[in-house]
Amino acid sequence: MLRTNPVDAVFHFAAKALIPESVANPGYFFDVNVASAIAFLETLRDFGVKRFVFSSSAAVYGNPKVVPIPEDHAKDPVNSYGETKLMLERVLRWYASAYGWTAVAFRYFNASGATSDAGENHRPETHIIPLLLEAVNGERPYFEIYGDDYHTPDGTCVRDYVHVSDIAASHLLALKMLPDAGFTAYNIGAGHGYSVREVISAVEEVTGSKVPVRVGKRRAGDPAVLCASPEKLKRELKWEPRHSELKNIIQTAWEWKMKSAAIAA
Ligand SMILES: NC(=O)c1ccc[n+]([C@@H]2O[C@H](COP(=O)([O-])OP(=O)(O)OC[C@H]3O[C@@H](n4cnc5c(N)ncnc54)[C@H](O)[C@@H]3O)[C@@H](O)[C@H]2O)c1
Repeated sequence: MLRTNPVDAVFHFAAKALIPESVANPGYFFDVNVASAIAFLETLRDFGVKRFVFSSSAAVYGNPKVVPIPEDHAKDPVNSYGETKLMLERVLRWYASAYGWTAVAFRYFNASGATSDAGENHRPETHIIPLLLEAVNGERPYFEIYGDDYHTPDGTCVRDYVHVSDIAASHLLALKMLPDAGFTAYNIGAGHGYSVREVISAVEEVTGSKVPVRVGKRRAGDPAVLCASPEKLKRELKWEPRHSELKNIIQTAWEWKMKSAAIAA
């Protein structure tokens, strides 16, 4: 690919990303997300590629001390997944200063929603919106809430959901607006959060069906609230979340799911 096509910039999305697996098997995560990624960076260097956009994560912050979380918040990951993202960010900072790279790390909060031809389908599925849609669609018996005794308005965890189309737009803006060498990190989130119960209600409204729900135990390491401050991204790259209204996220995910099921039938 690099030999046959001139490559101007790279978007690096590939990673191991299942948090429980990262806790149980950190060596594998450091190998894939850090060691293999550095080998990849070195290959890019051999081919003279100097613009790099990295999918980082809100997991670099760990348990937030301030919400909404700004980019300069302390970084204290609580799982090896977040640690690998932070390590690669640091590696990129050095590539930028030593090799003149323009490197951008986007710290995604909860990436969600779908376009007409691409949506979420992880195996195993661990993401809240596809799990809820599977429960509504009878593909799983119920949706489990991981704890409803958090210090939040309805007791369930609050998260910041950002539509994949808004994430994609930020990547294109990075290429357009960041011509100079250097490393920059940006949060990508809508800037406000929804509780698990609010997401359930929105799914019921969009699909017109009741979600079968059970309340289970808290999951280890789940902060009560994770919400981004996207102000830096708005200010510096003129980014605005245009698709990240919760109902639109769910509507697009549901439409994609129904379309995929119809194609498979
Ligand atoms: N989905 C989210 O909410 C979210 C939040 C924060 C960050 N991110 C990051 O965004 C990126 C994409 O997330 P996603 O949800 O689509 O994850 P995903 O797990 O669905 O996709 C990652 C893909 O990378 C592939 N991959 C892993 N290691 C590879 C390697 N060495 N070589 C080639 N392919 C490899 C995996 O097989 C998988 O298909 C990841 O880097 C993830 O860490 C996602």
